This record gives sequence, C-alpha cells and structure tokens, in this order.
Amino acid sequence: MNIFEKQKETQDKIKQALSNVKHLVAVGSGKGGVGKSTIAANLAISLAKLGFKVGLADVDIYGPSIPTLFNIENQEVAGREIEGKVYIEPIEKFGIKLMSIGFFVDNDKALIWRGPMASNTITQLISDTLWGELDYLIFDMPPGTGDIQLTISKELPISGAIFVSTPQELAVADVRRAVNMFNNKDINVPILGLVENMAYFTPKELPDNKYYIFGKNGIKNLIDELNLELLEQIPITEDISQTNDSGNPISLDSDALETKHFMSLASKINKKLNK
Ligand SMILES: Nc1ncnc2c1ncn2[C@@H]1O[C@H](COP(=O)(O)OP(=O)(O)OP(=O)(O)O)[C@@H](O)[C@H]1O
Ligand SMILES: [Mg+2]
Repeated sequence: MNIFEKQKETQDKIKQALSNVKHLVAVGSGKGGVGKSTIAANLAISLAKLGFKVGLADVDIYGPSIPTLFNIENQEVAGREIEGKVYIEPIEKFGIKLMSIGFFVDNDKALIWRGPMASNTITQLISDTLWGELDYLIFDMPPGTGDIQLTISKELPISGAIFVSTPQELAVADVRRAVNMFNNKDINVPILGLVENMAYFTPKELPDNKYYIFGKNGIKNLIDELNLELLEQIPITEDISQTNDSGNPISLDSDALETKHFMSLASKINKKLNK
C-alpha cells in the first residue's frame, strides 16, 4: 500500500469510528498547566448532566491526566473483535465514555515519543475506540501547537475549539499562537471562545468575594485583540484542586459554587453548536 492509500484508509477508519458522533470539541491552550484537563473533564460531566451522551478523549500523549481525574488509573481496557478486527471499549464512568492514551503507556515512556509516531498513535486510538452514539466527544489536548494538535485539527471533523488561559500575560502570548494555528486557512476549525481559568480566587467561607490575584487586563487584551468570546471565568478554588486529585471532578457536586460555572459553559457551547 502506498502512502496515499494508507492515508485514505486512515481517513475512512476515522469517519467510520465517528459516524455516530454529532459534535467534536477540542479543548486546547498555548501553555501547559493552565487547566485544560480540568475544563475538559468538567465540561464533559456538565454536558452529561444536561442530558447528552458524552465521550472524553485524552489525547495528551505527553502527560495524560484523565485516568487521574476520573480515578481509573489501573483500569484494564477491554478489546472486542468485530469482523476479524479488534476494537477497544471505552471505560465508562459518571456516565461518560472515556479513552486515554494513559491506559496504554506509562507516563515516563510517553515522553520519548516522536511527532509522527505520536500522531499515528492518536489517530489509531480514536479510530479503534467503540464510541457508539454520542452527542459530544470532548478532546483534552496537549498544550501548544505541535504534531498532535495539527493531526487532530486536520484529520478529525472538529466542530469547534475552546481555549483555556489563565490571566497572566505570559499565558496570553501562548494562547495567541494556538488560536492562530486553528484559524489557519488550511485548518479552519471554528473557535468557540476562551475560558479564563483561575480568573480570581474565592475562599469557600466568603463565596461572594473575588480576588483578582493575577490581574484583570491580560485576558481583556487577548479577547479584544483576537476577537474571541469570553465563554466563562472559572475561579481558582481549593475544592477544584482537591476534587481533581481525588478523581471526582467538582461538577459532580450539584451544590458546589464552581459547578454553575461549568454548567453555564456547557449550555453556551451546546447553544453555539446547535444554532
Ligand atoms: N480552577 C482551578 N482551581 C484550583 N486548581 C486548579 C484549577 N484549574 C486547574 N487546577 C489545578 O492545576 C493543575 C493543572 O491543571 P490541569 O491538569 O487541568 O491543566 P492542563 O492545562 O491540563 O495541564 P497539562 O498542560 O499538563 O495537560 C492541576 O493540579 C489542577 O488540579
Ligand atoms: Mg492536561
């Protein structure tokens, strides 16, 4: 098989695997550690709470975090043979279909993967998973603008991308680069907007108080410059951090203050994609 036939075969496989998935949403950022996985996980849970069928694909080959966020680190993935080919079943937790590169490699090994190999692995992971029927498939992306991001945005029919940034100026400069990549005419993935994570600090005992510890202007400049919609401002709180660590993302708690931010984000995205 020559390289073009191989490419066509991959595209057909992806099409087939995602044939019953309505919307693919990428959660990206320019910079590491700004809260992409936190936003992706809570967005997935919130969409499920709105009544949608949701999947979450962790394609951060260099640092998968979905297994930790859902406390399924040592989960065995089951294979299923269909017409002589082996597919993989996503793990279901909190009503969400989860697939992570982290189920197959340990973190230390993933680090040495090179671009083309990483990209092939990701397209294979997506096309071999039995996603079934979904309203939303959320992608927890690696940070930056590397091979994986290019592959995902070019080879998969992404309905829209959301970007996560923290308020610091430095993070803002990196988001600008990532947004420009998705805006590129060869890629042309619609950008749904920006989520400002860690926008302000709110102590639990003073829920009405907002402390803008990283300032307010960085994000304002960015959304003005890139003409982006600010979809939501998520506070930095102890409970988000703790629930992440224990593998029970905050949005599972309907009474939590933070949950309403994620529910509002989910409704906005749903509205935008069903206009
Ligand atoms: N709003 C928040 N409040 C408190 N802690 C947060 C918040 N958002 C993220 N965190 C914490 O910050 C750290 C980084 O978050 P997360 O892993 O979601 O970022 P990321 O952008 O996915 O990182 P990476 O680039 O490594 O994939 C985690 O320890 C997480 O629990
Ligand atoms: Mg992450």
